[in-house]
Amino acid sequence: MSLCTLRRSSIRLAALRSQIIPAIPVSRPFAFAPIRTMSVPTTMKAVVVEQTGGPEVLQYKTSYPVPTPQEGQLLVRNNISGVNFIDTYFRTGLYSSPKPEVLGREGAGTVAAVGPNTSGFQVGDRVAWLANGGYAEYTAVPAAKTVKIPEGISDEDVMASFLSGMTVLSFVKETYPVQKGDWVLLHAAAGGAGFLMTQILKSIGAKVIGTAGGAEKCAIVKDLGADVVIDYRSEEGKDWVKLVKEATGGRGVDVVYDSVGKDTWEGSLEAVKRKGTIVWFGNASGPVPPIPLPKLSPKCVKIARPTLFGYIETREEFEYYTNELFTRLKSGELKVKIHKVYPLEQIAQVHTDLEGRKTMGKPLVKP
Ligand SMILES: NC(=O)c1ccc[n+]([C@@H]2O[C@H](COP(=O)([O-])OP(=O)(O)OC[C@H]3O[C@@H](n4cnc5c(N)ncnc54)[C@H](OP(=O)(O)O)[C@@H]3O)[C@@H](O)[C@H]2O)c1
Repeated sequence: MSLCTLRRSSIRLAALRSQIIPAIPVSRPFAFAPIRTMSVPTTMKAVVVEQTGGPEVLQYKTSYPVPTPQEGQLLVRNNISGVNFIDTYFRTGLYSSPKPEVLGREGAGTVAAVGPNTSGFQVGDRVAWLANGGYAEYTAVPAAKTVKIPEGISDEDVMASFLSGMTVLSFVKETYPVQKGDWVLLHAAAGGAGFLMTQILKSIGAKVIGTAGGAEKCAIVKDLGADVVIDYRSEEGKDWVKLVKEATGGRGVDVVYDSVGKDTWEGSLEAVKRKGTIVWFGNASGPVPPIPLPKLSPKCVKIARPTLFGYIETREEFEYYTNELFTRLKSGELKVKIHKVYPLEQIAQVHTDLEGRKTMGKPLVKP
């Protein structure tokens, strides 16, 4: 069956859905050309990874097939897509996923087609989604992980905070419920997730010790209201554990949010207080090695290794966190920082910049 025939038989387009004409049973082929409110080409620009490796394995293609939305899916024309550190893990193979693969875990744009038996959305809706395949002009995404973007919030602002912001919100609410007055150590505080987490922690009333690499990043973290900022790549900051102890009167912090991993995990264990918590949630410098459990005993330390997707599995959970995020964006309580919007063909450069610690805030790509 050709792509075209497949699409005709499986997609209910907006005008058909919205009932000027009674819905045509999906099993019956159209007797006439389908009415399209948005024309969908058969090929598109996309970045494909066929085998794991460095940024050079990101292949920019100009005539990649546009996917067909299946049951429960929407076809979204991406206006802008987020680039997250996790994309580099799937590229290198640190996290496994079937290849060939179009990377990119989030996008914002317009619904171009609605798959069969899919409700809640219409062609033309402005939406954001979390799934796979954001490095492309079009992505077929589950409606269950798609949300309409409220008026007054731009696609760019949503992409600068969607995956990262929901991660941060769920980790400070559920992984360790941060309380007013808690001392919190946050690594990579000027990064995509760190920039948002610093603000959210301060809004709760926590005392934040943010680490970042270099003067420019440290100035950003200070501006966000962090109580103590440590340049952990500077000569003085290399001994950041000592500085954290000093700042907390020798006690250590209530919780550490550590997404750097290999280079910081031992220091994080030293910097946490007795009965404190460490949340390891990323591998920017490499994964945390297996830790002998007795290492946790002397201070009765609790550890967690969460993932956002574990907190947004149900529609109710997903909507809870998207609402939390949109409310903060709309009120201006949460500011976003876009490192740069790169054209899709420069995706290898984005990965190089991310892994080279050159980004501040969130990098985005324009498909
Ligand atoms: N578990 C989850 O569900 C989840 C969800 C979202 C994000 N994450 C994790 O959160 C972290 C942040 O993600 P992000 O997309 O916002 O990235 P990001 O923070 O913008 O970029 C990573 C930052 O890590 C720091 N870093 C320290 N050592 C590094 C090294 N050897 N190589 C590269 N970077 C290093 C750098 O900041 P400095 O220069 O300031 O050191 C770098 O800018 C990642 O580890 C990601 O995997 C996890």
